Amino acid sequence: MKIKLLSRLLIASFIFSSLTVNAVEDKNVFISIGTDALSFIQKKFGSRVKEVESRDGISIVKIDEDALPWLSLLMHRTFNRCGGFMLHDDAVEADNLLNSQGDQLFAKKNSFVSYKIDQDAIVKPMIEQASPANITATITQLSLFQNRYYKGEFGQKSAAFIKETWSNLIKNRTDATVEYFKHARWDQPSIILTIKGQSDETIVLGGHQDSINGRIGATARAPGSDDNASGISTITEVIRLLVDNSYQPQKTLKFMAYAAEEVGLLGSKEIASDFKKRNVNVIGVMQLDMTNFKGDDSLDIVMMRDFTNDEQNKFIGSIIDHYVPGIKWGFDKCGYACSDHASWHTQGYPSSMPFEATMDTMNHNIHTANDTLTVSNNNASHAVKFAKMAIGYIVELDH
Ligand code: BES
Ligand code: ZN
Repeated sequence: MKIKLLSRLLIASFIFSSLTVNAVEDKNVFISIGTDALSFIQKKFGSRVKEVESRDGISIVKIDEDALPWLSLLMHRTFNRCGGFMLHDDAVEADNLLNSQGDQLFAKKNSFVSYKIDQDAIVKPMIEQASPANITATITQLSLFQNRYYKGEFGQKSAAFIKETWSNLIKNRTDATVEYFKHARWDQPSIILTIKGQSDETIVLGGHQDSINGRIGATARAPGSDDNASGISTITEVIRLLVDNSYQPQKTLKFMAYAAEEVGLLGSKEIASDFKKRNVNVIGVMQLDMTNFKGDDSLDIVMMRDFTNDEQNKFIGSIIDHYVPGIKWGFDKCGYACSDHASWHTQGYPSSMPFEATMDTMNHNIHTANDTLTVSNNNASHAVKFAKMAIGYIVELDH
């Protein structure tokens, strides 16, 4: 194991040193991308792209920075993926991502303890109160901001709105706080609501707050009603249900609205690495990113298989079967590190991403001015299923 570790460090430092040289001369950067797209981009970009390493369906690629906007466009058109790749700070980070995907040692470290599902007395009455109207109202309010871009005034104002909304929900509790998690490199803060239990074991329910217009730019209209006002509004309803029912957790619950996801999972990367550094005992992470567009006729909830914990994914499936009967769920893959669940997974925490549709039937309006509630028929009948599932997940993990 020591040898393996040493060789990895050597590879990483070799890649890293070549990066620093190239970064000055050619402005090369490292990205991770689905291996299925590799030969396509090599054909398109020729010598401007070099494969560094591929494993388990993910490839690390060194690419000319100027090619990124084109790459994003092509990935969108040809592979039906949003950005379709993740940009990394350096080669070491890219290497960590690759290791987190398939490494057996990693899989062991990233372990999830399964629980008996037996909290019906608490969960059932709570999920009966789940309100699509509340979720609709929050989506509507979040969509009113011009955009929620991580840089600039709108993204800061929308963050303040979320902080205020969450603070109002817990104002009568002494065991709960809402705080900004500030980021040094940009202005939009992440938001963390904590309900403290006796135990330091921690359960995280999160989603990204930012929105982006991927075609026009930073100040353009980006309502982001599905991506991801829907996730934040679902989380808001989960908090409301727990508080209205005076739920007192044994473990510590944390609800997060991440900043700057749309530009490379930046907010969640800083938070997950901070938690790891402080050795916070996170026993489970659920990511809600897009919950209100029912893409697939035959499936309601789709568990993403990549950069997630298999055991926990199956457990969440059992939660759905038990508490949200009639809801059909299945599996799919993003094909790359598509949302904040990957930030936690890479730090070794068990993480899951229950999603609104299969990749084939996804909402094509995201990252445009047309990502509005109209696309979801102006209601939250799909998102409310995710609120019920999340209540079941939290309460069962807490016991
Ligand atoms: N919500 C999307 C990810 C997504 C889109 C998942 C469609 C499944 C289907 C997310 O906000 C996003 O756009 N992520 C970026 C990735 C990031 C590393 C920049 C993307 O897909 O380009
Ligand atoms: Zn998103």
